[in-house]
Amino acid sequence: MVAIDGPAGSGKGTVAELVSRKLGFMNIDTGATFRCVTLAMLENNIKLEDDEKIAKLFKEIDIHFEEENEDKKVFLNNIDVTKKIRMKQVNDFVSPVATLKIVRENLLYLQRKMAEGKNVVMEGRDIGTVVFPNADVKIYLVASAEVRAKRRVKQLKTKGIECSYEEALENVRTRDKIDSTRELAPLKMPEDATYIDSSNKTIEEVVNEVLELVNQKRNKFEN
Ligand code: DC
Repeated sequence: MVAIDGPAGSGKGTVAELVSRKLGFMNIDTGATFRCVTLAMLENNIKLEDDEKIAKLFKEIDIHFEEENEDKKVFLNNIDVTKKIRMKQVNDFVSPVATLKIVRENLLYLQRKMAEGKNVVMEGRDIGTVVFPNADVKIYLVASAEVRAKRRVKQLKTKGIECSYEEALENVRTRDKIDSTRELAPLKMPEDATYIDSSNKTIEEVVNEVLELVNQKRNKFEN
């Protein structure tokens, strides 16, 4: 189990994807699971305080990932929502949704189940602290808010979604605040994680650092 945590836009997604491919591990993007629930709540007009409807929603939804020619797709009730879950409405609503106890409890169960018995690279905000506190390798990946906003604009553009730098910066800052100050499973560095600042590093450099840590851990196991 390789756990990669960090704030929005730190490069976790890209790094986790490349590391998992190199290792032949499954890659689980836990942010996408929170985004699916957020989308389902928006589509069904469910309010944050409506625990009853949220509980019912969890009984009805199915979230899974599929990979096609190295293209990862996210499915909500068998509908491809890969692009939809990156929409502005979801971006703006996902952090408040992720503060809810009922949402975190249900997704914790789902995330652990998805990884059961598999070699996994899992990325999110609370993987090394809550979801898999016994992960073999833990990474805490950060970058400055400005660098992260620039990356977000670029990333969205490749997905055909327009977003200004100012808007992206505001979204990154707002989400950082909500994610790191919430009561349940806040974003924080696990005590035993390796801290990597990707602001002035290429993706390749970060990927190699993570692979090196995985190798060191493997050698320790074997000796
Ligand atoms: O990584 P992302 O931007 O797709 O995550 C979307 C939101 O989901 C983020 O603002 C906080 C929440 N999240 C979380 O609370 N815990 C996780 N393990 C992953 C994401």
